[in-house]
Amino acid sequence: MIIRNVIIVAALLAATSASAQRPSDKFPLIIGHRGASGYLPDHTIEAYELAVVQGADFIEPDFVASKDGYLFARHEHELSRTTNVAEVFPEKKTKKMLDGKFVEGWFSEDLTHDEFKKLRARQPFPFRDQSHNDMYEIPTLAEVLGARASLSRAHKRRIGVIPELKHADYFRAMNFAVEGWMVQIMEAWALDRAGSPLITQSFDKTSVAKLNEMMPNIQAIQLLDDKADVSDAALAGIKKYADGIGAPKELIVPVKTGQAGKPTDLIARAHKAGLAVYPYTFRPEKQFLPASYGGDPAKEYCLFASLKADGIFTDTPDLALKAFLKSCPMPG
Ligand code: G3P
Ligand code: CA
Repeated sequence: MIIRNVIIVAALLAATSASAQRPSDKFPLIIGHRGASGYLPDHTIEAYELAVVQGADFIEPDFVASKDGYLFARHEHELSRTTNVAEVFPEKKTKKMLDGKFVEGWFSEDLTHDEFKKLRARQPFPFRDQSHNDMYEIPTLAEVLGARASLSRAHKRRIGVIPELKHADYFRAMNFAVEGWMVQIMEAWALDRAGSPLITQSFDKTSVAKLNEMMPNIQAIQLLDDKADVSDAALAGIKKYADGIGAPKELIVPVKTGQAGKPTDLIARAHKAGLAVYPYTFRPEKQFLPASYGGDPAKEYCLFASLKADGIFTDTPDLALKAFLKSCPMPG
């Protein structure tokens, strides 16, 4: 706890000026993807706090379900990649059939709330800082929303939240009403009302449609993978049950052997269809950033701002803010 406070206080002090100066509304929203996950283990309160300190407009938690009906912030329901579950609960290792294949591991739906609270988060990418491993708890949806409210007060700006339900079809098949659970908690926090700083998202079409129906005042985003049909007809189909798309960056700026190519017209066509566009995921490391940007992530942020993306999912909100404040021309 002491270490956590030292980190957060230090970060808060370091970022005071960044938080004070905001880019023009013409720039895309800065979405802290899994928190400031370029620096701290994903999906922890500490990572969400740092994202806001670094200038994020929204925090992005992914959720999986526990055995007793809690939504916990994790990218996968197999927990061994991002937590110390193997050491804490070795006996819970099991084999499950997932998408037609046997997968061995530790699964969220086999742990209760109290068991989840014994876990600590780990940085999944080996080339990122591992020094915060096994320090931070895994938060529930209610805890993330509590942090969002506190951060909004502390920073005197309204921080948004864009939760994603993971494995929704898998949990629905287990009779876990994950969309209903999410909506109930949003209602308890009064985030279901028109103008609330909430956007929902999922790769699962049924989930997006359900959330849009249950919270008609809230923007619902259909996430797309890199093979998605993005024809005008497909976009018109999405518009029937969603308000926007979350698209892999490569559908907007194709990349071949490290070279970012000529932008497609996807953003313009989606806007014409009445859909907002949120590209993912902006990461500065050489493993992710196309070589043609010459190691300068600002070039990529500026390009997507000029293409009029509505928001960008980034692991490093500080670099997005710096680009929008210091490097990019004002989008037209
Ligand atoms: O939700 C946008 C983006 O996060 C989708 O990819 O796998 O990081 O959740 P993923
Ligand atoms: Ca996500």
